[in-house]
Amino acid sequence: MDHFELRSGVLHCEDVPLTQIAAAVGTPVYVYSSATMERHARVFRAAVSRCGSDPLTAFAVKANPNAAVLATLAAEGMGGDVVSIGEYRRAVAAGIVPTDIVFSGVGKTAAEMAEALKGGVCQFNLESVEEAEMLSAVATRLGMDAPVAFRVNPDVEAGTHAKISTGASYNKFGVPLASASEAYARAEALPGLRVQGVAVHIGSQLTDLAPLEAAFRKVGALIAALRAQGHAIATADLGGGLGVVYDRLLPAPPLPDAYGAMVERVVKDWNVRMIFEPGRMIVANAGVLLSRVIRVKPSVPDPFVIVDAAMNDLMRPALYDAHHEIDPVRPTGARMTANVVGPVCETGDTFATGREMGRVGADDLIVFRTAGAYAATMASTYNSRPLTPEVIVRGSRWALVRARQDIEALIRADTLPPWLSAPVPA
Ligand code: LLP
Repeated sequence: MDHFELRSGVLHCEDVPLTQIAAAVGTPVYVYSSATMERHARVFRAAVSRCGSDPLTAFAVKANPNAAVLATLAAEGMGGDVVSIGEYRRAVAAGIVPTDIVFSGVGKTAAEMAEALKGGVCQFNLESVEEAEMLSAVATRLGMDAPVAFRVNPDVEAGTHAKISTGASYNKFGVPLASASEAYARAEALPGLRVQGVAVHIGSQLTDLAPLEAAFRKVGALIAALRAQGHAIATADLGGGLGVVYDRLLPAPPLPDAYGAMVERVVKDWNVRMIFEPGRMIVANAGVLLSRVIRVKPSVPDPFVIVDAAMNDLMRPALYDAHHEIDPVRPTGARMTANVVGPVCETGDTFATGREMGRVGADDLIVFRTAGAYAATMASTYNSRPLTPEVIVRGSRWALVRARQDIEALIRADTLPPWLSAPVPA
């Protein structure tokens, strides 16, 4: 469910017509609905509230690290799942306390570890024995104990796009289940580590609960085995992964409630504090990318609708062949079949091919739906296109929460080497 709907023929975000935002800020621009994010946060937290006492829901900051988004979610009681010191600092700056932050990621550096440890993070999810050794050295140097879990690789096929699957043995992520016992024994023997949990995350945009359940059952068996070996396992982090609706014609993925019921069933005897790391399902449908049609170029069989957003603003179609619904902001009821493309000089700068959609022409506004997750955050300045601004809406109020990048600032970010900048000799 989201809060983007037609009122008097104009698409609104909550109580704000998108035409008003486009007129004030220009296009392309990302627009987020606070009410949608809050609703998703509440629904998810309610769904997992029955899984043990005081579960931590740590929003996967990578999905949308905008300060206003993080502050909105922090106010809803969400923690953060971070994968870099940049995400860690953003989360803390937005009001998420370090004790509600989990540090994930396959390549944490010693400097990142030291800063997060001093800050007081809740848990480091380690992905290898080598990483445990590095963290042990960092913690020992600081005279501290680092709370750790190993992310295990359960070797299940997530059934999602190959580029966002993480839980198969040939993926780079996690410690293979077969060597988990060895890794825990090694970590327990290392100074400066407090072994406290197990973590898993098998992939993103999952549309079926079965692979998740299979992975979680393997984690349950591992917890029992580790306890039998004398490890005090007190936390279990089940990652993120729940899919959302991108294509209206496809079956809807399971709702958080069904996910919560499945988890409750699987973890009922675990006796741990549960941690969840949802990203996409909290913010994806809370955002749209608002764009304007530059012109329509006739072609056979279908015309090209050339819009002012491009692959640098929303990479998902180019990177994962992702489908985003495209709707006119002022639909007339007329329909067209079109190829929707951006101005970047690559054939991959294509949002949709042969798409049946509401008819649009030059200067009309459109939205790309489900653009609140993995969208603005993955933008680049390719083709020297400035980074897209972001707007957040609450009821009838709205605010620019990231200004459009200034092209002059983009140019000034580069410096010339001395041999090119030295004054030319007379
Ligand atoms: N936890 C870990 C360790 C993760 O790697 C991820 C996502 C999440 C949680 C959150 O997963 P979610 O609930 O959002 O599915 N850029 C891609 C998605 C990459 C996901 C990376 N990891 C996309 O646009 O589809």
